[in-house]
Amino acid sequence: MVSYKELGLVNTREMFAKAIKGGYAIPAFNFNNMEQLQAIIKASAETKSPVILQVSKGARNYANQTLLRYMAQGAVEYAKELGWEHPQICLHLDHGDSFELCKSCVDFGFSSVMIDASSLPYEENIALTKKVVEYAHKYDVTVEAELGVLAGVEDEVSSAVSHYTKPEEVVDFATRTGCDSLAISIGTSHGAYKFTPEQCTRDPKTGKLVPPPLAFDVLDAIMEQLPGFPIVLHGSSSVPQEYVDMINQYGGKLPDAVGIPEEQLRKAAKSAVCKINIDSDSRLAFTAAVRKVFAEKPGEFDPRKYCGPARDLMEELYKHKIINVLGSDGKAE
Ligand code: G3H
Ligand code: 13P
Ligand code: ZN
Repeated sequence: MVSYKELGLVNTREMFAKAIKGGYAIPAFNFNNMEQLQAIIKASAETKSPVILQVSKGARNYANQTLLRYMAQGAVEYAKELGWEHPQICLHLDHGDSFELCKSCVDFGFSSVMIDASSLPYEENIALTKKVVEYAHKYDVTVEAELGVLAGVEDEVSSAVSHYTKPEEVVDFATRTGCDSLAISIGTSHGAYKFTPEQCTRDPKTGKLVPPPLAFDVLDAIMEQLPGFPIVLHGSSSVPQEYVDMINQYGGKLPDAVGIPEEQLRKAAKSAVCKINIDSDSRLAFTAAVRKVFAEKPGEFDPRKYCGPARDLMEELYKHKIINVLGSDGKAE
């Protein structure tokens, strides 16, 4: 058993309380490798933003859980080295799909876990979430749960349509499970193709796809039911056109990729939405930078020469999100 406290990590409780009060959201960035982690920590340290390092089941298998634990511990030390006196860094399991996986993460030094039982029937979602909460809380690890189903692919769970969270269920769910935060479905979805072209309109000037707006009425109804309760948005990448264009220009093929417009996320961040998940945008930045180097310097074969520019572009992206979208800069001095 390794306690996250020994690693210098924090859980989400205080982070979320402050974010709701302050009208901003905490960035939850997924990572799988050293370059992503370096970029996240540099961006967070420079902007003094609290941050959630997110690890999916797939990422955990990719990176190895022991290595991950030391990477997270290293991240805290690196942040201090960069001059961030009191780093507020949370290590969070993203989309945990079983009690065993969540338990293993708690035992291995994670400070927060998500149990995503949203694809199960309501009562089963409650039972599994409650079981995870009871275990995690013994170690002061916070738990995110999910109610409602996002369109697209949720790890191995696939859903073609999204089922918005039902506001009339949230009080019962939060009370009976004891979860610390709730991921909801209001129209976001995972990946770089969040909406089909048929769901969008086209900007007559640019010809680009304009996605439908998020269901802020559902968010408002949820907040009315659960005043001050921490709400989480998954699938919140914006799929920046510049990265998509770069990828396509340098030999990639991402036709009609579309994300959530930043102004909608800005609006959400000011509400009880206090955690915003971003993974795809970082994948796009990484891929765009690597493709550019490969296209312009076909003789290059030192990974540092293409992973370095990828890291720089991701750092720029993370800073942009922190400062211009979530408003979490300066909130962890
Ligand atoms: O929500 C899913 C995250 O983007 C993680 O994706 O399972 O491919 O690591 P992954
Ligand atoms: P994106 O695919 O929009 O980046 O969402 C990531 C996410 O929700 C991770 O849980
Ligand atoms: Zn997600």
